[in-house]
Amino acid sequence: MSRLIIVSNRVAPISEGGPAAGGLAVGVYDALKETGGMWFGWSGDVLASGQPQIQLEERGPVTFATIGLVRRDYDQYYRGFSNATLWPAFHYRADLIQYDRHDFEGYWRVNEWLAQQLVPLLREDDVIWVHDYHLIPFAQALRAQGVKNRIGFFLHIPFPASQVLLAVPPHRLLVEALCSFDLLGFQTEPDLRAFCDYVVNEAHGEVEHAAKGPSTIRAFERTLRAAAYPIGIYPDEIAQLAKAGARGKLVRTMKATLHERKLIMSVDRLDYSKGLVERFRAFERLLDHAPAYRNNVSFVQIAPPTRADMHAYQDIRLQLEGESGRINGRFAELDWTPIRYIHRQYERQVLAALFRESHVGYVTPLRDGMNLVAKEYVSAQDPDDPGVLVLSCFAGAAQELEGALIVNPIDIDGMAEALATGLAMPAAERRARYRDMIAQLRENNVSVWRDNFLRDLQGGGEKRRAMR
Ligand code: G6P
Repeated sequence: MSRLIIVSNRVAPISEGGPAAGGLAVGVYDALKETGGMWFGWSGDVLASGQPQIQLEERGPVTFATIGLVRRDYDQYYRGFSNATLWPAFHYRADLIQYDRHDFEGYWRVNEWLAQQLVPLLREDDVIWVHDYHLIPFAQALRAQGVKNRIGFFLHIPFPASQVLLAVPPHRLLVEALCSFDLLGFQTEPDLRAFCDYVVNEAHGEVEHAAKGPSTIRAFERTLRAAAYPIGIYPDEIAQLAKAGARGKLVRTMKATLHERKLIMSVDRLDYSKGLVERFRAFERLLDHAPAYRNNVSFVQIAPPTRADMHAYQDIRLQLEGESGRINGRFAELDWTPIRYIHRQYERQVLAALFRESHVGYVTPLRDGMNLVAKEYVSAQDPDDPGVLVLSCFAGAAQELEGALIVNPIDIDGMAEALATGLAMPAAERRARYRDMIAQLRENNVSVWRDNFLRDLQGGGEKRRAMR
């Protein structure tokens, strides 16, 4: 029996009910809790001095193997190249890309060091599954240390068009490193196409598409395979959480404060990729153009802090605080606050219950690999009286959730119209859209995502060997 080794920068803090924010932590935790195995990555600690040591902790069928980062590594690898260069580039924000050669060297060095830490924990027949943009050089680093195991990679965020990727100075080294994996997984077909386009046009490699299953890539003297594996969730678990959460005191109190007004709900890490400013302005446009909604609808934006020690994140926070204050100042009444903007994390159960209570789920990122909040929103609904999902065409989830009202997050009027349509939508149409989306979510749940990827990683077509 092979053991599954998950490697990711962020290893979820496993609270009751699993992690509450960040698509990777939620998806990977759901995938691993069934198969068991090991999850290796950063502990979240930044050490002022000393040598980081691996901590092993068994929880149920999963062994968590975590290690701290020294300050310089955190600055260069995490804040620097991963989040100031790759994150904006991969989210099509060429204007926000910062590049420092030393950070890039640090990124590479930390990947090699993390690989060295993992090697003594590995067994011969382990299957290694590496996640996300922090760890692009990880397979190359393991191979350099003689590791022969199967190694797959899944990118949780978008893969950018070549013209954007070319703005990242070491783009070629990055794509070459990706080609050291045996299988690459992307969230959507457009991401896969963008990668193949780079391989063919920039790296002069070859791509052979298969009628079914992964494409074969030949580049940098390696042959590997690549496909789209849209990540899912467990919709029925979310529905249970939502029902249980709705009975909780917090949610009941919140509902009472609405006084029968309609509710629009959004939950996102406070990230500039999430389109929060445009979203606030579209809500303002709704109040401007449809005065009947004034004092009749409340918009709750929960935006937990993220990467708060980086300038771009401090800027978006200030901007959002300015916008919510301005809009509330314009429209608020003594008994009504139009936007409730909350810069804090809540438990997953509370969020699911709030989704269930709301009339519109408002999910409008400027770019997003998948966006699991969109999938959770649909899952949390009451099938007899579901809310409407307003979803950005630039979220990976829009490729699957055809029952959503799809909007372009740059189009403020278009989003305001979609909000109005969602708020007024008759029950029969809401139910039909919900049925369509929930069927899709059940069919492509997180075990299907995991099993499809691992089946292809372990050698196409064959039945996956049992994992433990
Ligand atoms: C996104 C990324 C993850 C990341 C998460 C939270 O979902 O794809 O890799 O873990 O954001 O960001 P953080 O920087 O706190 O890990």
